[in-house]
Amino acid sequence: MSLVGTPPEPQPLGSDADVARFRRAMARYASGVTVVTTAVAGVDHAMTANAFTSVSLEPLLVLVCVEREARFHDAVVEAGVWGVCVLDESARPSSQWLATRGRPLHGQLDRVPHRKGPMTGVALLEQSLATLECRTTDVHVAGDHSIVVGEVLAIELPDSPSGPLLYHRGAYTHLR
Ligand SMILES: Cc1cc2nc3c(=O)[nH]c(=O)nc-3n(C[C@H](O)[C@H](O)[C@H](O)COP(=O)(O)O)c2cc1C
Repeated sequence: MSLVGTPPEPQPLGSDADVARFRRAMARYASGVTVVTTAVAGVDHAMTANAFTSVSLEPLLVLVCVEREARFHDAVVEAGVWGVCVLDESARPSSQWLATRGRPLHGQLDRVPHRKGPMTGVALLEQSLATLECRTTDVHVAGDHSIVVGEVLAIELPDSPSGPLLYHRGAYTHLR
């Protein structure tokens, strides 16, 4: 006779306490910070995002997870092309601004130094360690976010003396 019983059926976590614990766990995962950009009908859209990662080398693919309620979501899905700006540590104010819910859409980049990407025309922030221009290949619905996968069309590696902007435990930080 086995002394080991049948393990209980795993139950998904989902209470408010579980969500709070999940947030605390994720906050321990240190990340870089990006601003993702796109444009629809001549209007620039931009949003701070750290749920960004590389996916594949052949072909070159990256992904960003975008909250479906964020105004950036429908814009990036409609545009089909987007930029990723890997921020340097001087970009903290821009990152804070572009994470502010409900900020005015029109003119949101007026005080954020940027240029237009040569391949797609989307805005690329000057305070970047690297920029990518991408074309969407897949959009996967995943809970309250969409996973937007894109093929990399262009890469810029500006010379920068700065280190990366980082995010850890709910706060901006940098390498010591
Ligand atoms: C450091 C940091 C990282 C963020 N990462 C993401 C992300 O990966 N995906 C996302 O959808 N929102 C992310 N956000 C939140 C969005 O920036 C924010 O919800 C959005 O700018 C709200 O804009 P809206 O009012 O136009 O919807 C992040 C915020 C911060 C401060």
